[in-house]
Amino acid sequence: LIMKEYQNLLFTVEDGIGTLTINRPKSLNALNSDTLAEIGEALAEIKTDPTVKVLVITGSGQKAFVAGADISQMVSMNSIEAAALSELAHNAFRTIESLPQITIAAVNGYCLGGGFELANSCDIRVAATSAKFGQPEVGLGIVPGFGGTQRLTRLVGRGKAKEIIATGSQITAKEAHAIGAVEEVVELDQLMDKVNEIAHKIMKNGPVAVRMAKYVIDQGADLELNTAISFETQMWAQTFATKDQTEGMQAFLEKRHAKFTGE
Ligand code: HXC
Repeated sequence: LIMKEYQNLLFTVEDGIGTLTINRPKSLNALNSDTLAEIGEALAEIKTDPTVKVLVITGSGQKAFVAGADISQMVSMNSIEAAALSELAHNAFRTIESLPQITIAAVNGYCLGGGFELANSCDIRVAATSAKFGQPEVGLGIVPGFGGTQRLTRLVGRGKAKEIIATGSQITAKEAHAIGAVEEVVELDQLMDKVNEIAHKIMKNGPVAVRMAKYVIDQGADLELNTAISFETQMWAQTFATKDQTEGMQAFLEKRHAKFTGE
């Protein structure tokens, strides 16, 4: 177990699984600029850390994943300061998406505003039944500014995104699951077991292939279909230049488990 402590984050690595915990439980893990900057710093290290095979992002305590951007910091901001905060978050969340590792949001409670936007920047979302989701920004007189108008829309479609954002209402984990905003829902006391189970399934597979699959899905999503499938062909062909491909296929034919090296 490796641990690194930040002011507003906890970071541990165990068994190939890195866990980044937003750690401001007294304000329900609200994201202020210091925390967003620290997330950026942590991600820069995680990106090149070969001991982290899968990254889990979660919130400290039982009540909240992240209850949004820090309202006590935003209350007195002008437009220029607000733009800087939004860009800080966009940089951090873009870095999450561009990590070579698969990222899993373990949503342990309130997942609101910037918290929902953080979860939606991860590759997979696993939620506790007790978690609540929402984009309450319009109730504060602002629009979502950490990607909520864009990533939520891409996940659930315009109609649902507009309903969630314009009403500002909270939805349950079950409702979030039904609209495709959450991949798995389990009881809170089983949340980390479920996340570990998914992480271990991922880690059994060819590391280059998993990394490339994430890359092709994300890059392809922004392309027109002809270009996207031709990009898939190129990436697919590249996997045939890896030792993992030879090992994976030979292991199948020899009826044994593959021993991938990530080469
Ligand atoms: C700052 C927050 C906070 C937040 C909670 N707290 N959310 N502080 N920013 N986003 C603080 C409370 O002020 C309180 O501090 C403590 O955490 C506990 O919260 P309570 O409200 O007392 O808890 P409870 O009554 O159980 O209600 C939980 C809650 C509520 C429903 C989650 O806290 C809430 O509505 N929070 C705000 C959610 C929100 O609007 N998020 C979106 C922010 S805008 P004290 O000191 O009183 O104990 C956003 C925009 C992103 O994210 C993009 C902008 C560029």
